[in-house]
Amino acid sequence: MCGIVGYVGKEKAAPILLDGLARLEYRGYDSAGVCVADGSELRVCKAKGRLQNLCGLCSDGETLPGKLGIGHTRWATHGEPNDINSHPHLSQNGKIALVHNGIIENYAELKAYLMKKGIHFVSDTDSEVVVQLLEYYYKRFDGDLMRAVYRVLATIEGAYALGIICADRPDEMIAARKDAPLLLGYGDGCSFIASDATAIIKYTREVSYMEDGEVAVLTADSIRVFDAHHEPIEKEHHTIDWEISAAEKGGYAHFMMKEIMEEPEAIRRTISPHVRDGKIFFEGLCLTQEMLREMSRLYIVACGSSYHVGMVCKYTFEKMLRIPVEVQLASEFRYCRPIVDDKTLVIIISQSGETLDTMAALREAKSLGARILSVVNVVGSSIARESDDVLYTWAGPEIAVATTKAYATQLILMDMIGLYFADLLQAIPKEAYSALVEELQTIPDKLERILDQKETIQYHASKYFNHSSVFFIGRNLDYALGLEGSLKLKEISYIHSESYASGELKHGTISLVEEGTLVLALSLYSPLLEKAVSNIVEVRSRGANVLALTTERDRKEISKNADGLIVVPDTMEMFLPSLGVLPLQLFAYYVALERGCDIDKPRNLAKSVTVE
Ligand code: G6P
Repeated sequence: MCGIVGYVGKEKAAPILLDGLARLEYRGYDSAGVCVADGSELRVCKAKGRLQNLCGLCSDGETLPGKLGIGHTRWATHGEPNDINSHPHLSQNGKIALVHNGIIENYAELKAYLMKKGIHFVSDTDSEVVVQLLEYYYKRFDGDLMRAVYRVLATIEGAYALGIICADRPDEMIAARKDAPLLLGYGDGCSFIASDATAIIKYTREVSYMEDGEVAVLTADSIRVFDAHHEPIEKEHHTIDWEISAAEKGGYAHFMMKEIMEEPEAIRRTISPHVRDGKIFFEGLCLTQEMLREMSRLYIVACGSSYHVGMVCKYTFEKMLRIPVEVQLASEFRYCRPIVDDKTLVIIISQSGETLDTMAALREAKSLGARILSVVNVVGSSIARESDDVLYTWAGPEIAVATTKAYATQLILMDMIGLYFADLLQAIPKEAYSALVEELQTIPDKLERILDQKETIQYHASKYFNHSSVFFIGRNLDYALGLEGSLKLKEISYIHSESYASGELKHGTISLVEEGTLVLALSLYSPLLEKAVSNIVEVRSRGANVLALTTERDRKEISKNADGLIVVPDTMEMFLPSLGVLPLQLFAYYVALERGCDIDKPRNLAKSVTVE
């Protein structure tokens, strides 16, 4: 959701900005723009729609001179997606340009104030208020730009990552952040700002993460950072440890397929640092055995697919640990007066580590006294930094909007956390624990076996891609898994799809089943095989086409009743969703491919949701 890149250096800025924006496309956007400082004039170019429209307008940056500039991909919130509402925004006299991620909550009041002072607004955005206010104070403070910036930051409310340039200072860029990610990049004779490292990794791996309240002043040769009181501060430098190839397609038609294919390796990378001599270790975790023993309740809080990981873990954790586990959508958590205190452990799951609702839930839980353990993919992200403990999934950068390898690594890491807790709490017999840890390590190989039969899944997709409505049904772990399978399908193929606990069919959903309805029946969870079979029979007798997902062990029984079959290797109960999700991701991918959808960038969706 919205991307920022900024450059100041010795090269022409526009092509570098456009390249950065191309790498930020995955975040989701509906318009894009750049602004460069051409001597003492600011030149803006922006366009609705895909980045190629913008590239066309400025001949890939050729027609825009200048060695300082800011660029933006916008995902519309205030004001429709059009050229005018796109960023960068210019102040009334054209002297200051700004890009903004986040939402300014008091923009209406500020806009009314500025309009009374005779300032004319051209866009419907909340962001324009910031740049107009800047010009207002810049004039009032006789051209003291930093004073104006601090005054504006003290006036606006909400979340922001800002990139600012001023025609009077063609060698300098200013950045500020509050509750929206922004990093600083240290290049050779150049400096960058970016909403994430993908935008600038081609040019530098050395970065600092801005914190709330900080303001940075960047020139080609220096980056100075100041705190909220304008006192200079030293920033820690980090080195990005992944290769640029990780954020490129590498011969695949889509990032989504590349990322699905990477799952076995990503899971190996996530497991291996923590398993030694048949045991799971999380070194450096501050959460002790005593603290864990005192915990009376466990919450898992997340959004989207990360929330679906939590739904699976409710079944596995409660069964193994016998502790009540509440799984909450982050967007609901802070508004439902959660029963959280210092005896509550809150596990936050987030790929990006920047989802606004998840971040807000974390802060709410912390303020109520809970201990926070987060499971995050992006190193150094806000959620990682604000948690008491963080464990990383090593999925690498995930570019396709629909998550695949991140979900897979989250699930496996959560399984490991569950096992680790079970060991500390002596909740399961030693032999059972050892068998589970042993089985855990076989999962990547089993996933590779599933990938080997991807043509079978492609065949099923080619048979069913024309359906307009699909139901996923299952019980227990299969129900939790169906939630993710259904989400994957609807987000990239735009087919209406829902997931139901099979037991609920008779309470309403079955009325929607008619001749030719496609039902994805999930039957991995063997203890409820008989019930799964009877639900399949029920929907088939009403005309449904049933595509079933099951294990080697139950294939015979299920195949007697289904129209189509996808089979995964046998494994222990806990790991069934880890194997089962892969065919569902592949199915969604191939269906979307058949339907000619924009698989990596589905309409209206964003990779990282940084607004409420
Ligand atoms: C967006 C993404 C989903 C993701 C969700 C939560 O909707 O498209 O794939 O599951 O955000 O994101 P997070 O980064 O917090 O896991």
